[in-house]
Amino acid sequence: MNQSRENWGSRMGFIMAAAGSAVGLGNIWRFPYMAGANGGSAFILIYLVFVFIIGLSVMIAEFAVGRRTSLAAVGAYKHYSKRWTFAGVLGVVSAFFIMGFYPVVGGWALAYVFKSLTGLLSNAGAIGDTFGAFITNPMEPLVWMIIFLLMNVVIVAKGISGGIEKAGKVLMPTLFVLLILIAVRSVTLPGASAGLAFLFQPDFSEVTGQTFLAALGQAFFSLSLGMGCMITYGSYLSKEEKLPNNALIVTALDTGVALLAGIAIFPALFAFGMEPAAGPGLVFVVVPSIFAQMGGIGTLFAAIFFVALTVAALTSSVSLMEVVAAYLIDQKQMDRKKAVYSTGFIMVITGILSSLSLGVMSGFTILGVGVFDFFDILTDKIFLAIGGMLLAIFVGWVVKKEDLRDELTNGGAVPFGLFDIWYNVVKYVIPLAVAVVAVLGILDIAQTGLMLFGLAVILVLGIFSHKL
Ligand code: TRP
Repeated sequence: MNQSRENWGSRMGFIMAAAGSAVGLGNIWRFPYMAGANGGSAFILIYLVFVFIIGLSVMIAEFAVGRRTSLAAVGAYKHYSKRWTFAGVLGVVSAFFIMGFYPVVGGWALAYVFKSLTGLLSNAGAIGDTFGAFITNPMEPLVWMIIFLLMNVVIVAKGISGGIEKAGKVLMPTLFVLLILIAVRSVTLPGASAGLAFLFQPDFSEVTGQTFLAALGQAFFSLSLGMGCMITYGSYLSKEEKLPNNALIVTALDTGVALLAGIAIFPALFAFGMEPAAGPGLVFVVVPSIFAQMGGIGTLFAAIFFVALTVAALTSSVSLMEVVAAYLIDQKQMDRKKAVYSTGFIMVITGILSSLSLGVMSGFTILGVGVFDFFDILTDKIFLAIGGMLLAIFVGWVVKKEDLRDELTNGGAVPFGLFDIWYNVVKYVIPLAVAVVAVLGILDIAQTGLMLFGLAVILVLGIFSHKL
C-alpha cells in the first residue's frame, strides 16, 4: 500500500515538474500574440501539427537520452561522443539567451499583481496606455525583473523541490480554472464570434515561410524542447516510468493551456475592437480589460490571475536556470551556490539591457534589432529548432536503436509498431522537416544578418567542441 502511494507520488512530481517547465509565459503571453501576428487559425493549425508530430517525438527522445545516461544535457551528449558536446553547450547558450528576456516578462506579470490591486482596472480605457508607459519606464520594470530573478536564484540555489512545487500544485490548477472563467466571459461578450472565427477558420492565403518557422519555434519554445531541458528532467526519472505516456500527458497539458489562452483572449479582443497583431502587450491589456467589466470582484480575479501567471513563469524559468547550473556543476565542478549566483548575476545584466531596449535604449541595436528581440529571435527562430534537429540526428544516428527500444518500451512490447514509427520519424522526418522549415523561414525573414550570426555561433561551437 505504502509503496504504491510513493510511486504515484513520484510520478505526479515528475509530471508536475515537466509540465511546470512547459506551461509558462510561452503559452499565455507568447502563444496568443504569435497567433495574432501570424494570421490566427492557419498558424494554430500548423502549430498543432508541429507539436504532435515533431514536438512529441522530440520530447520522448529527450526523456530517453536523459534517463538512459542519468546525465544532464551536456554530459548526456558527451557520454556518447565528445564531438557532440557542442549540441549540449548550444543548449546552455540558449538557456542564457531565453533568460535574457524571460525574466523581463516575468517581472511584468509580478508587477501586474500589484497594479491590479492598486487601481489599474478602475480606468478601463487607459489599460493599454498604462502598459506602454510601464514597460518603457527606465526604472520600474527593472525592479520587478530583478525581484523575479532573485526568486529564481533562491529556488535553484536550494534545489527545485519544496516551496515552488507546493505553490505550483495549488496555483497551476488555479490558473487553469481562471483561464476557463476568462474564456467563458470572453466568448459571451457581444461581438466575440469574430474572435472565434479568427481562431478556428483557417485562412491559408497569409501563410509564408515565416509562418512555418514561427509555428515551429513556438512549438519548441512552449514544450521546453531543443536545448536539453527535458534531457535534464528525464535524467531524474525512475526506470519504471513509461516515457511516451509521460511525454503525451505533458504535451497535451501544454497544448490545452495554450489553446485555452487563445480562447480567453481573442473573442474579447475582437469584442473590444483591438488589434490581433498588437504584440507582446496582448495578455497584459486584454485580460485586465475583461476583468475591469466585472466590478470589484474583477480586481481580485485579475490579481489572482497574475499571481498564477507569475508562478507559471517561475516554474519555467527555474528549469532554464537549472540547465545552466547543472552544466557548471557537472562539467566545470563548480559549487551549486556559486554556479547559481554567477549565473544569476549575468542574467541580471542581460535582463536590464533587454528591459531598457524597450524604452530609453530603443535606439541601440545589434544586427538590426534591439536587445530584447536579439535574445528572443535568436532562440526562437534558430537555436531551439536547430537544437531539436541536432538532438533528432543524434538519437537517430548515434544512439543505439536497441538502447532506445529498451528505454521506451521498458523491456516489453509496444502496440502497432509505434516504436518503429517514432524511430523513423526521429531519424528521417524531423531532421528533414526542420531543415526545410529553417531554410524557408530564414530566406523569408527580415533579419538575415541576425540569422547568419546565429548559424555562425553554432558553427563556432561545433569547431571548438573538444574544448567544451
Ligand atoms: N516552455 C516555457 C514556456 O512556455 C519556457 C521554457 C522553459 C523553455 N524551459 C525551456 C523554452 C526550454 C525552451 C527551452 O514558457
